[in-house]
Amino acid sequence: MTSVALRGRAWKLLEMVTTPLLPSDYLDLVSPLRAGADLRGRIEAVHPETGDAATIVIRPGRGWRGHTAGQYVRIGVDVDGVRLWRAYSITSPTNRQDGRVTITVKAIPDGKVSNHLVRRAKPGTLIQLDQATGDFVLPQTKPAKVLYLTAGSGITPVMGMLRDTEFDDVVMVHSAPQPHDVIFRSDLHELVADKKLRLTEVHTDTDGMLDIARLDELVPDWAERETWACGPAGLLDAAEKHWSDHGIPERLHTERFRPSIVAAGDGGEVTFSTTGKTVDADGATPLLDVGEEAGVLMPSGCRMGICFGCVTPLKAGAVRDLRTGEITEAEPGVLIQTCVSAAAGPCDIER
Ligand SMILES: Cc1cc2nc3c(=O)[nH]c(=O)nc-3n(C[C@H](O)[C@H](O)[C@H](O)COP(=O)(O)OP(=O)(O)OC[C@H]3O[C@@H](n4cnc5c(N)ncnc54)[C@H](O)[C@@H]3O)c2cc1C
Ligand code: FES
Repeated sequence: MTSVALRGRAWKLLEMVTTPLLPSDYLDLVSPLRAGADLRGRIEAVHPETGDAATIVIRPGRGWRGHTAGQYVRIGVDVDGVRLWRAYSITSPTNRQDGRVTITVKAIPDGKVSNHLVRRAKPGTLIQLDQATGDFVLPQTKPAKVLYLTAGSGITPVMGMLRDTEFDDVVMVHSAPQPHDVIFRSDLHELVADKKLRLTEVHTDTDGMLDIARLDELVPDWAERETWACGPAGLLDAAEKHWSDHGIPERLHTERFRPSIVAAGDGGEVTFSTTGKTVDADGATPLLDVGEEAGVLMPSGCRMGICFGCVTPLKAGAVRDLRTGEITEAEPGVLIQTCVSAAAGPCDIER
């Protein structure tokens, strides 16, 4: 008998004697980051960045395949006994010597996961990890001139890029309410002192929101620059319009943390048939939120329509895609993304 076949038999035997728990469950207790286990990570440190933001240092398990600067990772965190998934941009460089990765989280009012990570997460905690993904990344060929246009926590993917790749000519325009709200402020000022970055900080409490037309004055050659932008919807919508109006939409790359919701309609009664719950929902609230609010266990990831971590069968009725207004009606095998779909009349979601 080959050693592989032997190992297979030994494993089967172990499965029999450890029933109902499987050997992998026992191994999870002693070696949760081992190769072959579901991908996990261990929080090793939490470093405050500002009053409401912190960098979380994570040691990924063996299956981690690395990332490209600018990408994000989905993480599953247990908050009050419920596993919640969220997406966070990776802020560490790709060549970090100790193999750790960092995410930097800003706590938002009433935010379940962000407040947990910033204020309560403890070193030693295990979290679930997905592989890094996302196409908000730098191109293979370095552009001659770069502009980073960011606001608030939108600085995170760009910090991952700044730490990873040097350019001869890179300018950043970053908005935050006040100087002490600027995440990574001292790192940015070090780069400025080393002449690796030109930085304009817009402090919105005193300067007001950045009017995108001000780019002419702040960065006169903005149109010649390959631009990466990340921040609230208002900034990104304005930037997309500005770049389009100037006929250069392909020079602007954007990353959104939340979906742009354009179409809401009438809601309806939503049944979660597996759980046996029925609730009234308006036509603007994503079914993911409706389900979570009703105490239904809903899978999720990015919560903005890009990762497909929330797909669920639509058993009956109709839903509206909040990004496009498109209506999907129930048919056998029809799956919907609950994070960007709202009730369009009565519907039954298989959860
Ligand atoms: C690709 C991607 C990358 C991301 N990278 C980062 C990152 O690097 N750092 C970071 O801090 N966040 C990042 N986010 C946002 C993050 O995934 C969560 O949405 C955020 O932490 C809020 O989660 P929560 O559980 O605290 O809030 P929830 O409990 O889900 O929501 C609480 C309330 O806040 C609203 N809300 C949800 N998200 C936001 C938001 N982003 N801004 C304002 N209001 C919101 C909800 O509608 C709800 O009313 C990223 C999102 C995506 C899609
Ligand atoms: S949670 Fe990512 S697509 Fe819905």
